[in-house]
Amino acid sequence: MSNKVRVAIIGVGNCASSLIQGVEFYRNAQPDEFVPGLMHVNLGGYHISDIEFSAAFDIDKEKVGYDLGEAIWRGQNNTVKFAEVGKLGVPVHRGMTHDGLGKYLSEVIQKAPGPTADIVKILKDTRTDVVVNYLPVGSEMATKWYAEQILEAGCAMVNCMPVFIGREQYWRERFEERGLPIIGDDIKSQVGSTIIHRVLTRLFQERGVKLEHTYQLNFGGNTDFLNMLERERLVSKKISKTNSVLSQMQHEVAAEDVHIGPSDYVPWLKDRKWAHIRMEGRSFGDVPLLVDMKLEVHDSPNSAGIVIDAVRCCKLGLDRGLGGALEGPSSYFMKSPPFQVSDERAHELTALFIDGRVGAKCISDPEAPIKGEPRTPALTSDSAVELDGVAVNSEA
Ligand SMILES: NC(=O)c1ccc[n+]([C@@H]2O[C@H](COP(=O)([O-])OP(=O)(O)OC[C@H]3O[C@@H](n4cnc5c(N)ncnc54)[C@H](O)[C@@H]3O)[C@@H](O)[C@H]2O)c1
Repeated sequence: MSNKVRVAIIGVGNCASSLIQGVEFYRNAQPDEFVPGLMHVNLGGYHISDIEFSAAFDIDKEKVGYDLGEAIWRGQNNTVKFAEVGKLGVPVHRGMTHDGLGKYLSEVIQKAPGPTADIVKILKDTRTDVVVNYLPVGSEMATKWYAEQILEAGCAMVNCMPVFIGREQYWRERFEERGLPIIGDDIKSQVGSTIIHRVLTRLFQERGVKLEHTYQLNFGGNTDFLNMLERERLVSKKISKTNSVLSQMQHEVAAEDVHIGPSDYVPWLKDRKWAHIRMEGRSFGDVPLLVDMKLEVHDSPNSAGIVIDAVRCCKLGLDRGLGGALEGPSSYFMKSPPFQVSDERAHELTALFIDGRVGAKCISDPEAPIKGEPRTPALTSDSAVELDGVAVNSEA
């Protein structure tokens, strides 16, 4: 069992850049201090500096063949630079394109020449523990193809984008059979529009305010938003964002009263994202109450701190021989986990998971033994939320 977390990246875009910069930025963070920006300096015995990048895959000719430490500044990447990153000694290999490049991305990205690299062999040769999927929204076939390579190579997976893998029973079972952990799907940023909207929705619910109409309009100037101009690629992203918010509500709301999704591309915003959230409800005495707010964030760094924790949770899963979805961490780190719980509960379950007090299935089977021991503390899971009698995570 290695004391390093060896991480491979699929898609060397803005999110990969922020993750790699973050590992450099926090290399010397003190474990016994509160470090602004981080949830955990030390996570289950792994410091941030224990994360090593082992391999990378892209299809952009501006990135393939370059060292990963150089590739993060190339092509269309336009996120903020907050750390110096030298050469990492990790080449970016040619991945498999499939449906990775949609209508708009193919106007600005040229495919690298040459054949697809042997992904399985590279993952094995580099002793990769965890593979992080950062493919563009709508890369349905490509994501499934890479998931097969990851299974074959015997690695854990963190699925940061909204093609449903960790959420789907079929894929969860595939990972379980191989004894490999997965955390998915669609990363929930540190303080992003999803978690704010979820927390406010739950606040309305708990304080007895009936939510009648709500929207969340998001726009930014990175390639993620450019790609999402293609509405056909957006279906799973809209499902992911909408379900994530609606799962926090127990009363019915008509579909036409909820609009949540990416809305436009404004190039000069670069990697900044603006989100407008409006919530109209009825409070005591049937009196109207409304919240209208705006969030401005740098999009990619906002998710990188979550991934820094997710890869370390996956490594803990590997160390403990756990296979399948890590349900607690998935519910805390992801918009579309296998089971939705409140963010407070998800936080608690993640802490219990890190301490080794719950296993992979802490929501679907809270009484499951851990490492062969019967569980003592009974968990009062608020479990999967149902809307209209239909579990919001019903298999698609
Ligand atoms: N806060 C956030 O930034 C955030 C939050 C949630 C989810 N996500 C999701 O994470 C994903 C990555 O976001 P990003 O901002 O880094 O996107 P990006 O557009 O900057 O990067 C995507 C990268 O994937 C590469 N690529 C395309 N097809 C490929 C293929 N078949 N094989 C290998 N590489 C391929 C592109 O060349 C590019 O380098 C997106 O799906 C996004 O929606 C991001």
